[in-house]
Amino acid sequence: MLTVYRGTIVHTKSFNEFESLKQGFVAVENGKIIGVGDDYEDWLSTTKIDRTTLSEVLLTEFQFLSPGFCDGHIHAPQYAQIGLGLSVPLLDWLNKYTFPTEAKYVDQEFALGIYKSVVEATLRCGTTLASYFATNNLESTLILAREAARQGQRALIGKVCSNCNSPDFYVETTDESVKGTQSFVKAIRELNNPLVLPTITPRFALSCSKELLRELGNIAKSNDVHVQSHISENLQEIKVVKDIFKTSYAGAYDEAGLLTKKTVMAHGVHLEDDEIALLRERGTSIIHCPASNTNLNSGLCDVQRLINAGISVGLGTDVSGGNSVSILHALNRALDVSKHLDFFNKQDIFGTGPAKTPNRDYQQLSYKQAFYLATLGGAKALSLDHITGNFAVGKEFDALLVDVSILEKPHRTLTVDELVEKFIFTGDDRNITAVFVAGKCVKGSKWETN
Ligand code: GUN
Ligand code: FE
Repeated sequence: MLTVYRGTIVHTKSFNEFESLKQGFVAVENGKIIGVGDDYEDWLSTTKIDRTTLSEVLLTEFQFLSPGFCDGHIHAPQYAQIGLGLSVPLLDWLNKYTFPTEAKYVDQEFALGIYKSVVEATLRCGTTLASYFATNNLESTLILAREAARQGQRALIGKVCSNCNSPDFYVETTDESVKGTQSFVKAIRELNNPLVLPTITPRFALSCSKELLRELGNIAKSNDVHVQSHISENLQEIKVVKDIFKTSYAGAYDEAGLLTKKTVMAHGVHLEDDEIALLRERGTSIIHCPASNTNLNSGLCDVQRLINAGISVGLGTDVSGGNSVSILHALNRALDVSKHLDFFNKQDIFGTGPAKTPNRDYQQLSYKQAFYLATLGGAKALSLDHITGNFAVGKEFDALLVDVSILEKPHRTLTVDELVEKFIFTGDDRNITAVFVAGKCVKGSKWETN
């Protein structure tokens, strides 16, 4: 079955290339994009497709089609405590709230309830691709994988590994961690669902011994799978990592072979220049989690610095360090952080100013660049941009139907760019009236397609 969506289409081609087609079309067959552009009649005649054999969906004046959102870093079990306990720094927050919550996932019934909800909530907010941390518990991590598969979300799933510097009630032996990870990779492959992939997940350098990190690096290499972890989030944490590993934070992962092209590291708020150069050399990406960085008092991450250094950057909600499952929310917080950095660097609104070395050339992130980070940037960071992230022929149709008039009709006609701008700054999940993953409608029954 061939479906053609006609109307306003927006997407990005790179960090600085935002493309909008006012009278555009996207043609989808068997979940894949087979045509895109602004001359539908020409496409029909060159492809010799008989118009009577396809179904057309006509978008209204205030609707547009966007690529699905990518959440490059989210802790599914922490959805159980979202919005709570956000006034303390990282290490206190982990010990006081997060480890006790995650330890509960030995209970599979509890796990199923929360995991079902978090997948529903992220899909509702337009997340068509998510990279999830689960917990140390293998069985319930498989429940999360099955739930993502059942609900039709594209997902990377990781069994979290930690064998030291953790409370007695939430820690594994090295052997449990290694064997659990191996069994997990095998079990996910046996699911045989192209949407769901395994990702090797050392929690962070602090809670893994050198030996465990090395074993996990070997598993990642021998299975050619994704890797995810945290890096350089909080100054206190960085100091302890340096003391233990006698190298930089990035160096600790690199010695274990964990910095690969398929690795994403969350945060990178306080990375030093030589660490950025190392990540760049290894092809490792950073997931920017602005809500979490503010909530946990971690700092302001300068993503422009990372991007200018050649690092791929995506956005993450980092639930529940982040207080929203919505990438649209993360996008807005990223714009806030960028504006605040601009204040520090240029406007001296803080008197003497806290910036160590003010960068007078600092460039604010634009909403179009932030939209890239939320879509193609995330897909690229997760090394899945050959499959998703924008509307290129050959990619899968992971898309959102956005309706800016759903709550209130705008008081004047809007240009295509203004439609997107309005959605970004005033929209929420209610404006996302349909969500598609690989062509299948996973939210909004009206637009069921192939
Ligand atoms: N570092 C180690 N574990 C975590 C976590 O669960 N959330 C965040 N934000 N940082 C971490
Ligand atoms: Fe995190």
